[in-house]
Amino acid sequence: MTPSSHPAPGAARPSFGQYTLSDFESADASMRACLQLARVAARTELPILILGETGTGKTILAHATHNSSKRATAPFVSFNSAALSDTLLDSQLFGHDRGAFTGASRTVRGKFELAHHGTLFLDEIADLSAAAQAKILRAVEYGEFERLGSETLHVADVRLMTATHLPLEQFVESAQFRKDLFYRISGVTLTIPPLRDRPNDLRALIATEIGAAARVEGKSLVGLSRGSAEILFSYRWPGNLRELKHVIHSAVALSTGDVLRPEAILFSASMSWLGSAPRPSSALPAAGPDLTLRAAEERHIRSVLASLGGNKRQAARALGISRATLDRKLSPDAGAGPEADGEMEAAAETGWDRTDTR
Ligand SMILES: Nc1ncnc2c1ncn2[C@@H]1O[C@H](COP(=O)(O)OP(=O)(O)OP(=O)(O)O)[C@@H](O)[C@H]1O
Ligand SMILES: [Mg+2]
Repeated sequence: MTPSSHPAPGAARPSFGQYTLSDFESADASMRACLQLARVAARTELPILILGETGTGKTILAHATHNSSKRATAPFVSFNSAALSDTLLDSQLFGHDRGAFTGASRTVRGKFELAHHGTLFLDEIADLSAAAQAKILRAVEYGEFERLGSETLHVADVRLMTATHLPLEQFVESAQFRKDLFYRISGVTLTIPPLRDRPNDLRALIATEIGAAARVEGKSLVGLSRGSAEILFSYRWPGNLRELKHVIHSAVALSTGDVLRPEAILFSASMSWLGSAPRPSSALPAAGPDLTLRAAEERHIRSVLASLGGNKRQAARALGISRATLDRKLSPDAGAGPEADGEMEAAAETGWDRTDTR
C-alpha cells in the first residue's frame, strides 16, 4: 500500500515510521524527480536536507529514506530543535553525565548516541541557535562529542538528515545560518513540491484519504459529488497533505449517505481553512457585536468565494444557493429590500458525479 495510491478495501496503512520509498508514487513530474533522487540518495551515506512547505511530507520522507537505506535496521532518531533553550538542547542532543547539573540524577544518552549506526533526523534545522549550530557542526564534522558535564569523548557514527520549511539558503545569505554547516548538511537536497503544484496527484491522494477515513469511521462512502470534487480540486491547500488529510477525515466523519457532499466538507472546514485562500480585494465586514445577520451572511459568502479562488459557480454550489442568488446577495444594494423567505435555494445538483476512487 502506498501513501498516495488508493488502498485496497479493508487494508490497513503502515504506521508513519514504517513507509519505505517504494511505498511512494506520484503522477507529478517534480515529485517523481524528488522521489527518484531520494531513492538514489538512500543508498549513499550522504547527508540529506529536505525542504518543503509545512505538511508536504518532509518527516515521513525522511523516515522512508532511512527505511530504504543500508541503516534501515539501526535506529532512526528524530529531534526537533525548535523552541529549546541551549542547555536543554545540549543535553538532549549530546546527553549528560550524572551530576552534570542540578537535578541530573542519572547519566542520560543524547540523540547522537542513540542514533549510533543509524540516522539522526534534525527537524526544523533553521531554528537552531548559533551556539547549537557550532556544536552540531563539530559533532558531524568529527563524529565526536562530549556529554554535558563530561570531558570524555564519545564517537557517533550517524547519517544526518535535516528538514525545514524555511528558506534555508536565505538564512545562509543573511548569516543567520552557518555556511559551513549548510554545506555539511546538504549533500543531497530533496525539495518536496507543494500540493497545489501537484494537480496530477490530487485525485489519487483524495481517493486514498477518503478510503482510509471511511475505514476508520466505519462509513461506506463510494465517491464524491460533483460539487465536492470542485471544492477539493480548486482549493490551494496551504497546509498541504496534512490539511488534506484532516479536511477529508472530518468531512467523511460528518457525511451521511454513500457520497461525500459539499456540506460535509464545508461543515468540517474551520474558518482558517476557508480564510486561508487569497481574499477578494473588497474588505470583508469585520465580525463583532454590531454585525447584522445580512453582514454575517455576506461575510460567509465572501469567505467561501475567496477559498474557491473567486469562482462564483463553485461558491454558489458549495453554499447551496443558485448563482443568481449569490450575485444578488453580493450586489451593492443587497439588503435594501425586505428579506425574502426561502431565499436559500437548494443547489441544482443534477446527478452525482461518482468520481472514480480507484
Ligand atoms: N505522499 C503522501 N501520501 C499520503 N500522506 C502523506 C504523504 N506525505 C505526507 N503525508 C501525510 O501528511 C502529513 C504531514 O506529513 P509530515 O509530518 O511528514 O509533513 P512535514 O512536511 O514534515 O510537516 P512540518 O513542516 O509541519 O514538519 C502526515 O499525516 C503524513 O502522513
Ligand atoms: Mg515535519
